[in-house]
Amino acid sequence: MTMDALLMAAGSGTRFGAPEPKQYLPLRGRAVLRHSAEALLRDGLVRRILPVVAPGEERRVAALLAGLPAMPPVGGGATRAASVRAGLEALAADPPDLVLVHDAARPVIPDGTIAALRAALADAPGAIPAQPVSDTLKRGAAGHILETVPREGLFRAQTPQAFRFDALLAAHRTGDGSATDDAALLEAAGLPVALVPGGEANIKITWPEDLARVEAHLAACLI
Ligand code: CTP
Ligand code: MG
Repeated sequence: MTMDALLMAAGSGTRFGAPEPKQYLPLRGRAVLRHSAEALLRDGLVRRILPVVAPGEERRVAALLAGLPAMPPVGGGATRAASVRAGLEALAADPPDLVLVHDAARPVIPDGTIAALRAALADAPGAIPAQPVSDTLKRGAAGHILETVPREGLFRAQTPQAFRFDALLAAHRTGDGSATDDAALLEAAGLPVALVPGGEANIKITWPEDLARVEAHLAACLI
């Protein structure tokens, strides 16, 4: 079974607020997205990476991924779902059996995650890494608590998310483009999506302090 990966890097990093999108910022001497690509390739299960980038950034990203099995970058869209769809349509010319969809803003993929996702696809068309919620959850409005929300059975979804390629392409072609992750499209189609254990190190860089947390994690791994 062939498995390719979409590296989602077409966002603008509005919440982070740096002069350029967070996937291009340096992390221990290399761009964040280079770390994310190497993490996808580390255990040898991914055949090739297709980067999805903001239109105009194709050459820059190709240079940042030099030496890796990466296809020429394709331009993304205004929403993450539109960007994923663009990547899937590009892969459809020579489709893999399985596809991973990974945020370029997640430079750390814990060991074993990709193997667990791949194994889960034997029984379901989709699989995602997820962490159980550990904080007590409150629903609030106007600065006050309305209620405590039971956290039992609640998970934080991470990436890479893994799919049988044909199932994800079909879900994107029929979706309305509003899904914030790819699993939601299969859920909407009534298809099962497996949960595999995520990891606290799989941090999505959203705010500036997240980059510092990733830096601290990588420093601790090298001790
Ligand atoms: N992404 C994408 N295309 C978009 C929007 C997001 O490929 N139109 C990618 C981002 O580059 C990122 C991942 O999807 O790697 C997760 O999105 P997010 O963390 O929301 O990144 P941004 O959209 O860049 O950040 P923000 O929402 O703060 O602007
Ligand atoms: Mg965003």
